Amino acid sequence: MDFAYEIAALISKAAEISVEDAREAVEVPANEDMGDYAFPCFRLAKVMRKAPPLIAKELAEKLEKPDFISDICVVGAYINFFTDKSTLVKEVLLKVLEKDGDYLKTDIGSGKTVVFDYSSPNIAKPFHVGHLRSTVIGNALYSIYKALGYNCIGVNHLGDWGTQFGKLIVAYKRWGDKETVEREDVKELSRIYVKFHEEAEKDPSLEDEARSWLVKMQEGDSEALELWKWFVEISMKEFDRIYDRLHITFDSYAGESFYNDKMQAVVDELNEKGLLTESEGARIVDLEKYNMPPCLILRRDGGTLYPTRDIAAAFYRKKTYDFYRDVYVTALDQNLHFAQWFKVIELMGYDWAKDSLVHVPFGLVSLGDGKLSTRKGHVVLMEDILNAAVDKTKAIIEDKNPDLEDKDEVSEQVGIGAVIFNDLYNSRIKNVVFDLERMLSFEGETGPYVQYSHARACSILRRAGADKPEGDIDYSLISDDASVSVCKAIGDTEAKLRDAAEKYEPYILTRHIVDICKAFNKFYNENNIMASEGELKKARLAVVYAVKTVVAQCLALLGIAAPERM
Ligand code: ARG
Repeated sequence: MDFAYEIAALISKAAEISVEDAREAVEVPANEDMGDYAFPCFRLAKVMRKAPPLIAKELAEKLEKPDFISDICVVGAYINFFTDKSTLVKEVLLKVLEKDGDYLKTDIGSGKTVVFDYSSPNIAKPFHVGHLRSTVIGNALYSIYKALGYNCIGVNHLGDWGTQFGKLIVAYKRWGDKETVEREDVKELSRIYVKFHEEAEKDPSLEDEARSWLVKMQEGDSEALELWKWFVEISMKEFDRIYDRLHITFDSYAGESFYNDKMQAVVDELNEKGLLTESEGARIVDLEKYNMPPCLILRRDGGTLYPTRDIAAAFYRKKTYDFYRDVYVTALDQNLHFAQWFKVIELMGYDWAKDSLVHVPFGLVSLGDGKLSTRKGHVVLMEDILNAAVDKTKAIIEDKNPDLEDKDEVSEQVGIGAVIFNDLYNSRIKNVVFDLERMLSFEGETGPYVQYSHARACSILRRAGADKPEGDIDYSLISDDASVSVCKAIGDTEAKLRDAAEKYEPYILTRHIVDICKAFNKFYNENNIMASEGELKKARLAVVYAVKTVVAQCLALLGIAAPERM
């Protein structure tokens, strides 16, 4: 039984609102005293032409209280519902035992395709912490939408074309050699790239040289293209190492170069529609009316730009995937870029631009830990961060649990899990601080804390000799507050997932996992599971099993492993 859905059906019967719309409005109040579910009446005000609090009062009187509801009360514009505890416990546990690994799966998104554009690092430049955020947030959103039944397409829009390659070719020809690049890969490419900038300050003719190599690339010159391809391969090797460690894959790696032959059509269409104007030799779309600087389409030398490639990519994706949403996960310093070209597509007359194109921005990363911060202007390499987290975890395990089997694997899972958890713990717009000490602490709301709670549940089940409780369970034995709270938290998971998806905010799920774990640890401290007997023990083990199952699935959606022993 889906309580939120049942409540929506109840409301829909009594007011002019569809079950779907009512379901969307049903909330889980932050404070348990306000009930288990709430229906805010604001959206009925338009049709009913009354003040929301009055609507709430009248509507609540009309509702017939079903068995699973123990109480209905009105607070302001909200109708609050209290579920009958024994029904709640039974429904939640039954559902987990029945659906198991599919507990979180629903089909509300079925028939709809959502494209997620995330990670998208730039070739020949290092994969930095900003890209980690995009990767981790994008991957979580992708998985959450997938669990909700959407058809998801993960696109890594690699920055694999543009001026940096002209510079890199010049740099390589002057200061690079094959062997070193092959040995040092991206590190060496960034070294010579940085050197290019230093040298170009002294000798500006290097910039012209770089531009002429870019022109050669665009004209299909084989030497230029061969070098370009090689740089791409070298970089991909590094990126793939990181994706492997994060267990992340993409459905498409169509990067910027993929759109080279698809941009002329965009330029032609913009021309036909009278949207292109000239400005200092460049071609732009004027956006003054919309309080934005112009969107640059063609450079003075005819070269295309980042927005041009994004516009071409959006059309290609619309045609290829017929998306319901096309979601871009990048740092918030790209806000203007997306607002500009979204507007351009709208001005071209495509209605879908308004609802379907979504920019999901996130805040910066600052490095709290002195050891990881480097000199100004230098990016911190992703791999260094992951390694530092894993090494530190390993040291903690050596200290606390030296006999643990698979120490290396668990260190990797916990260290990387802590980095991901830390990234997804707050609203994405907030800045993230990398403070290894705090991230790896077992106390407080951290990755290791939730992983440890999960491992504790596994260990209880192991010691009880039953991974999954079999046969009939007497759910009425689960009635104390702590136990009911665990079940309630588990039962809220679907609502949290929907909320996280709707707001593109993985943190809603991250914090929900913390809530389940906190409730579970309280339940564990208050109920002596191992000392209880017979039917009571079995019922309690069912609660433990539900925690283990649902926490592991939620963690998986965030891209975090759930080791069984820690
Ligand atoms: N490569 C860009 C960067 O590193 C991010 C690309 C985001 N995706 C897009 N379609 N523009 O800043």
